[in-house]
Order: sequence, then structure tokens, then C-alpha cells
Amino acid sequence: MSTPPRIDPEGLRCALFGFYDRDGRDLPWRRESDPYRIWVSEVMLQQTRVETAEPYYRRWMERFPTLDDLAEASRDEVLKVWEGLGYYSRARRIHDGAHMVRERFGGEIPSTAQALRELPGVGEYTAGAVASIAFGEVIPAIDGNARRVLARLFDLADPGLAELRAIMEELIDRERPGDFNQAVMELGATICTPRAPTCAACPLNSVCRARAAGTQLDRPVTKSRGKTPLREFGVAVVLDPESRLLMRRRPEEGLLGGLWEFPNTSIRPGEPSAQAARRAAAEAGAHRLESSRSAAAGPLQPVRHTFSHFRAIYRPHAFNGVPVSLPESCRWIEPPEASGLAMPVAQRKILSNWGWAARKKILA
Ligand code: ADE
Repeated sequence: MSTPPRIDPEGLRCALFGFYDRDGRDLPWRRESDPYRIWVSEVMLQQTRVETAEPYYRRWMERFPTLDDLAEASRDEVLKVWEGLGYYSRARRIHDGAHMVRERFGGEIPSTAQALRELPGVGEYTAGAVASIAFGEVIPAIDGNARRVLARLFDLADPGLAELRAIMEELIDRERPGDFNQAVMELGATICTPRAPTCAACPLNSVCRARAAGTQLDRPVTKSRGKTPLREFGVAVVLDPESRLLMRRRPEEGLLGGLWEFPNTSIRPGEPSAQAARRAAAEAGAHRLESSRSAAAGPLQPVRHTFSHFRAIYRPHAFNGVPVSLPESCRWIEPPEASGLAMPVAQRKILSNWGWAARKKILA
């Protein structure tokens, strides 16, 4: 077996910056040095691809251009701007973080990775990214892309974080630590991709040990996550005599926290979905339910959504109902107002499908 290529840190930095300075994507947060903006971009980029996050970032900055604008916004406004991006706890935590920066740090975002970690939702990766990019701290930021690049470069099957940190501390450029971190991630996102790396175009191909050994596709080894479980929900789309829809706000903490939805509940084994939907409506305070005219034409279209840890099928049913006393989390909402609420993607689809069904009925 031939000896693995030698990796000279200085040569590697030079090759990597050559690539990043020439081919790195021109992204809005790369034109910024405002720590607030870098922080928001890095939180958006957790678990989210650049192409998906970019329009959200632009909208966010139009609406909340400064940390004070964010701190003064309501929770509902913040969630509305985040709507569709998923992992909503990230939005809640940036919002909480903006309050914390004002109350505990005198309005200045902390400038070291260690202090940044006091902010909600800021873990080792995000702290390293913000500290290096916005403040020039010489500290690694290792996300999934960087882990893959390093695992291949050094031909490591399943490297732990401590090992990767030690490698990065040796390699990182002391003058441009933020650009170095971003260049490694950029290489992982655009060239050293998980299933089809374009090694021929890689600036590090001559020193890549996995490439020399032909093990690129097995580095790092990935654990199969298995099939995620399926959960089905009965959903109640209830209209009252004043043509308002019954909606409820999810609790602040947990999945989709703070977002608005139609009352829904898990369908029990063997239970018809309409029955689960009725149960959900009754729990939300609607009574004397009757299947609505549009329901006579059959249930509304089911909507599927994939979460990180389960797949959901929502089975909506339309009813006419009478308001009794509503729990605090529930409200009757005029349909046009619903478009201004922050709703999960699946609920937004249910609303839109219901709107079409209702309009067709009116036109018929
Ligand atoms: N992924 C997360 N943050 C990134 C950044 N700043 N550049 C490239 N990819 C990233």
C-alpha cells in the first residue's frame, strides 16, 4: 500500500483560500461583519441548506435589520418571518437571545466563543462560527460539511469532535480564521458532497488521503437512521356561524412551538379520522359540530409532512360548529387574518385546500 499524502498546513491554507476567494458563493452574510447578522445567518444555517436559508435571511433583515428591531418585535412576528424554515425553536431562541443581549450584555453581542455560548441556542459550532467570522477569534467551527471534509482529507472513518477540533486547531489560518472555517464548509457544501464528490475539481485533491485510498464514499461512515415512524392526525377545520375558523396556538416549548394550527390529535388505532378530528374540536372548545356542506363532498385532502424524527399524515375534516367557551390557546379567526399568522407548512396547506374547497362550493 502506498503511503498517504503528507498534508502541509501552509500549502493547504493556500489551496483552500485560492478556491474560496475565487469560487466561494457570494452570499449576503459574507458581505457583512455585523455580529448580529452573522449570528442570524449561522442559526438559520443550522440543519438548513444555504439555498433554502438565503431568501429567509433577506426577509429577516428587511424586517429586523438590527438587534433592537428584533428585540422589540412580537413573538408572532418573529415566527411569521421564520414560517416554512422549520426547527422553530431556533427562531424563538434568537428572539430570546436578542433580549438577553440587551439585558445582560448592554446591547453588544459577546465577542468570544465562550461568552457567546451563554446565548440560547448557541452551541459549540455556532459560537465558533460567529466568534471567528464576526470577531476574528482563532477558533474552529465544525459543522457536518466540515466534518466530512476533514474525515476525507485524513481518511478517518468516524472521527469524534475532539479529534476534529485538534486537527482544525492545527490547520486554521490565524489571520483569516472566519474565512478558513467558511472555506472548509463551502468545500463540503459544493465539492466534497456526501454522495457524489467532484474530486477532480477539488483544490485539496492532491493531498486527500481518502481519495488516495479510494475511500471517499465511506468517509465518514454514516449510521443508517432506519425508517422514521409514521403518525396520523385527525384535523378539525371548524367554521362558526360568523364564518370564522377555530384555531389554536401551540405551546411555546416543543415541536412547532408558538405556531397556529387547526385543532388536531393523534388517530387512535382503528379509529376513523373524522372521529379523532371531532375529539380535537371538542377539546378546543367547539360544540354541536355538524359536518359542513363541503364535508358532504368527502373529507378534505390529506397532507403529508416529514419531520426529522417522524412522518406525519394530517387527515382534515370540515365542520360547522358553535363556539362555547374556548381554552386560552384557542381563537376564532377570520380566514383572511389566518394568512397573517405563523403556521406550520402542513397547516398552511390544509388552510389553502380548505379555501379552495369552500370557494368551489360557493361558485357551484
Ligand atoms: N454553513 C454554515 N455556515 C456556513 C458558512 N458561513 N459558510 C458556508 N457554509 C456554512
